[in-house]
Amino acid sequence: MSSSSKIGVFDSGVGGLSILERIHQLLPRESLLYVADSAFAPYGPKGDEFIIQRSRHMMEFFLSQQVKAVVVACNTATAAAVAQLRQEYTLPIIGMEPALKPAASATTTGVIGVLATEGTLASDKFVDLRSRFEGDIEIITMPCPGLVEHIEQVVPDEEAIAQLLENYMSPLLKKNVDTIVLGCTHYSFLAEQIKKIAGDDIAIVDTDDAVARRLHSVLAQADLLKESDASGEIVFYSSGNPGTQKEVISRCWGEKVEVLFF
Ligand code: DGL
Repeated sequence: MSSSSKIGVFDSGVGGLSILERIHQLLPRESLLYVADSAFAPYGPKGDEFIIQRSRHMMEFFLSQQVKAVVVACNTATAAAVAQLRQEYTLPIIGMEPALKPAASATTTGVIGVLATEGTLASDKFVDLRSRFEGDIEIITMPCPGLVEHIEQVVPDEEAIAQLLENYMSPLLKKNVDTIVLGCTHYSFLAEQIKKIAGDDIAIVDTDDAVARRLHSVLAQADLLKESDASGEIVFYSSGNPGTQKEVISRCWGEKVEVLFF
């Protein structure tokens, strides 16, 4: 492993592409390997042990590719597995968490909403994070089962998504939230629909940029930033059906890409 090695990025599916995009914008010279574990998505309702096993599987793949760092571009996998992975692997592992900190400093009503998977919201990691901010502010959480499955489709059912979002967001809106945290990387792909339902007065926050910045600083500190000026290449892998995954990943990435079977 050296500064010219690639960076591994994984998620339960296409959600982490929102993070991959920010990483590519911030670090265009870095070569990136993305794994969508779409055959096993959603992770939200699965237990920690299952998610740890899948995460290990991807870590082993990344090690075989001699990556220099791994980004867990998934709130659910971070909550379930990152502590264990850090015990087992020595390379830098960057995880993520719902953006409670920026939301807590942005709110003026003192009430924020968090949309995330049931796994993330039930995790010790989230309970701990929440306890650091609750009291000063009120935090309304909402698990959103079903959304990830829709986003993983070749052609998402917009009407069904809009209905689910209405159902999940109306309890938050009734509580007068002025800030909504997107606590699942998949939901970044619904940001427009979420904004439409929330209206102009509600801020939508995520940690996508913060994760890219954190990766940058970890690589800089370890002297692992790529030195060459050549732009990095991005290779996409998926555990899902290669035919449909090519369509789904290309749609979310915004251009036609090849997808290799993981
Ligand atoms: N994209 C993931 C997250 O950030 C996981 C979604 C899922 O597979 O349930 O939590």
